[in-house]
Amino acid sequence: MFALLFATFGVILSAKYSNITNDQSALLALKSHIIHDPHNFLVTNWSTSASVCNWIGVTCGSKHQRVIALNLSPMDLTGTIPYQLGNLSFLGWLDIHDNNFHGSISIEFADLHRLKYFHLGNNNFNGEIPLWFGSFA
Ligand SMILES: *[C@@H]1O[C@H](CO)[C@@H](O)[C@H](O)[C@H]1NC(C)=O
Ligand SMILES: *[C@@H]1O[C@H](CO)[C@@H](O)[C@H](O)[C@H]1NC(C)=O
Ligand SMILES: *[C@@H]1O[C@H](CO)[C@@H](O)[C@H](O)[C@H]1NC(C)=O
Repeated sequence: MFALLFATFGVILSAKYSNITNDQSALLALKSHIIHDPHNFLVTNWSTSASVCNWIGVTCGSKHQRVIALNLSPMDLTGTIPYQLGNLSFLGWLDIHDNNFHGSISIEFADLHRLKYFHLGNNNFNGEIPLWFGSFA
């Protein structure tokens, strides 16, 4: 009960003190962890000269102008998922299936409290998907 209250409070605080700049840093961290982008989807498009809300695969909410959905499928991307993705505090939808992401899914994903849908299939993740992931399925 206290843990739940505390977690809820934490979400409110992190949402209050973060902004679209945090979302941009998180996505730039993801971009820097992509080692092969054969169709150049992200190379020029994910540029700081444009708002992240105009980046390919990124959807922002109309109310808060924060990243609510990420759809990078299928882009033939090779790379890993950095822990910073857990900073996308408004993310509700994550679809990265049909790529070549590998490595492990960091526990920092547990920070994505608003995540309601995710599709990670057809990648090369190793290890087990953490148990708490099942709570969304
Ligand atoms: C986001 O927050 C940081 C630190 O509080 C601030 O410096 C920056 O100007 C803010 N950016 C936007 C787009 O509001
Ligand atoms: C993510 O959030 C943590 C904790 O608030 C912060 O230290 C880190 O710099 C953030 N990372 C990015 C990429 O914004
Ligand atoms: C990035 O891609 C989006 C969606 O295809 C497009 O609307 C936008 O103009 C592109 N931005 C740049 C800088 O190429």
